[in-house]
Amino acid sequence: MHYLITGHTGFKGAWLTLMLTQQGHQVSGLSLDPEPGSLYVVGAVGELVQQDIRGDIRSAGTVRTALEATSPDAVYHLAAQPLVRESYLDPRTTIETNVMGTYNVIEAISTVPSIKASVIITTDKVYRNVNQIQGYIESDPLGGHDPYSASKAMADILTQSWMLSFPGSPMAIARAGNVIGGGDVCRDRLMPDLMRGFSEGTEVSLRYPEAVRPWQHVLDCLTGYQLLMQELLAHNPKVLGQPTWNFGPGPKNLRTVGEVADLASQMWGSPASWSVPAQTHPHEAELLALDATPARQKLAWADRLDFGQAIEWTVEWTKSVNAGTDPRATTTAQIKKYVSLVNQ
Ligand SMILES: NC(=O)c1ccc[n+]([C@@H]2O[C@H](COP(=O)([O-])OP(=O)(O)OC[C@H]3O[C@@H](n4cnc5c(N)ncnc54)[C@H](O)[C@@H]3O)[C@@H](O)[C@H]2O)c1
Repeated sequence: MHYLITGHTGFKGAWLTLMLTQQGHQVSGLSLDPEPGSLYVVGAVGELVQQDIRGDIRSAGTVRTALEATSPDAVYHLAAQPLVRESYLDPRTTIETNVMGTYNVIEAISTVPSIKASVIITTDKVYRNVNQIQGYIESDPLGGHDPYSASKAMADILTQSWMLSFPGSPMAIARAGNVIGGGDVCRDRLMPDLMRGFSEGTEVSLRYPEAVRPWQHVLDCLTGYQLLMQELLAHNPKVLGQPTWNFGPGPKNLRTVGEVADLASQMWGSPASWSVPAQTHPHEAELLALDATPARQKLAWADRLDFGQAIEWTVEWTKSVNAGTDPRATTTAQIKKYVSLVNQ
């Protein structure tokens, strides 16, 4: 199979590229330039990519040309401005990228005959957050307090509308959140901030130590996307009838930001500390959980790494790379270890 990944230079996109190529698939990508120090850069992931296209999804022509030039069998749409805080600083770029960029991708998909299925990535933040304890289910109302959440809810609604209004090759939306793993360099994300601070020996500032999130390792999340894609490609009627899919971990992975920081610093071993500066921050949701029952029942998806393992694998990845191990080799070793866990 030949997959086109938008956002392949990002955190999840680089891991997905490595997973797919390790499985023997071809991957092409459409993205902006990678961030310095990201997995894509340090793992030389571009070497594995068939057509490595740099382009802005806000341009309909760029997206159409990229899809026509690559003629993929299937598309994973991950490209986005994915940060809540950045969305307060630059709401326009966030909306243009996440809403019109997604529109450009799904419109172009409908014009390229080689494409047999596509998975569009939104987020757990699409739900209207009422701080409920039980996880959100796919039919719960969408909302969005901050510009990022609103932009993703808009992208989600417009993709659902597109699927109903202009039915074409199978398409579905995947919602997951708070994904952690090695090689993420995004600013204002907890694990990257912790890993950077611990590596440099500087104290890490936490914004919302009491905020509860469903922490999930990137390999669990991406395996969910892949299972969904496989069933779309197989035209599984149980899956075709459902437009949106949650991929959230079980209740044991619902932990506070403070718990993540404590466990990560314990696992890091050498002095590693964090604090909460007295400063106000823009609003972010306090409690956010997903119910992934349909994915567990219809896709046989399961989160294989519990809370401690998800953190441990991220700490191990960072320590291994800091110690000079090749980042691509470190990543592929974790993918192999994960596959052997799944096959047990
Ligand atoms: N990491 C998480 O915890 C998380 C949680 C929920 C949802 N998501 C979603 O998963 C997807 C991937 O997130 P990530 O963590 O890998 O983010 P990332 O920032 O690491 O990667 C984003 C990717 O999108 C590309 N991109 C951004 N703007 C673009 C533009 N205008 N044109 C073309 N490409 C553009 C970047 O070049 C990069 O390849 C996003 O859709 C994000 O909203 C991530």
